[in-house]
Amino acid sequence: MKIATADALRWLSELEATAEELMNRHLASAREWFPHQYVPWSLGRDFDGPLGGEPWSADQSALSPAVRSALVVNLLTEDNLPGYHWTIGSRTSRDGAWGAWLHQWTAEEDRHAAAIRGYLHAARAVDPIALERARMAHLGTGTVPELEGPLDVIAYAAVQELATRVSHRNTGRLSGDPVCERLLTRIAQDENLHMVFYRELLRAALESGADQVLVTLDATIRDFAMPGLAMPGFGRMAAEIAVAGVYDLRVHHDEVLVPLLRALRVNDLTGLGPAGERARDRIAAHVERTDARAARFVERRAQALAVRAGRAEPA
Ligand SMILES: [Fe+2]
Ligand SMILES: [Fe+2]
Repeated sequence: MKIATADALRWLSELEATAEELMNRHLASAREWFPHQYVPWSLGRDFDGPLGGEPWSADQSALSPAVRSALVVNLLTEDNLPGYHWTIGSRTSRDGAWGAWLHQWTAEEDRHAAAIRGYLHAARAVDPIALERARMAHLGTGTVPELEGPLDVIAYAAVQELATRVSHRNTGRLSGDPVCERLLTRIAQDENLHMVFYRELLRAALESGADQVLVTLDATIRDFAMPGLAMPGFGRMAAEIAVAGVYDLRVHHDEVLVPLLRALRVNDLTGLGPAGERARDRIAAHVERTDARAARFVERRAQALAVRAGRAEPA
């Protein structure tokens, strides 16, 4: 169990009133929805095993391999909710406004895995046995992001909720299946409200201690990775997801880093001390580097896809 430091306690008490206000705003904008209404039950039939139905085979899935990989990675990330709940709860608090948010957030997140798994099973979209084994393997490692204190949680969650929103949204859009797209759009709306909660907390934190927040934000975005390394086959799936354009460096730069930093008006902050100035410079350098790497990636991908389509010679 993490022992809260004086610094962590100071931030928790300083931001608690804002957390409460943001939680109330969240409850006013969140719309109730029901996972069972988004699952195409009429497509479903028994599987092999105790019910003696038909085993899964790849030709039953209407989705491309990249979309299947994206759904699996998105679902395993949602499945890891107990790990996130623990990390956030132990770095913030299970009491007061922090606890109220933690429990509301957890209850909302729990819908996501239930709904996606229902869809994947009913539509026979992915191998259900491989999926279950991957879930066991992933959760069995107990992997959680390593976050020191409340500011790290807030910064990480702001980036991750936005990345998750974009990833669900793009997966739905590229799926070619309106049922899948409707479900993932619905989930992406939840992720958006979660992102707003953490982003606005970050904004409030910037008002009371911009230098420390910028140092944290710098470390967060430089280390940021979707937590998939413990998923079986993650390297291959992440590559497929990037090639398909569901989530790649271009998306990460254009749809996550830039909008978040712009919304926080990081470039307009005044009165920073040396540590804050240094962190802001490093953030700017990281964003620039990511943009350049994204350009190279997009170019190499276009080249590879042209070769694959027989329109170009290998470089
Ligand atoms: Fe989620
Ligand atoms: Fe979320």
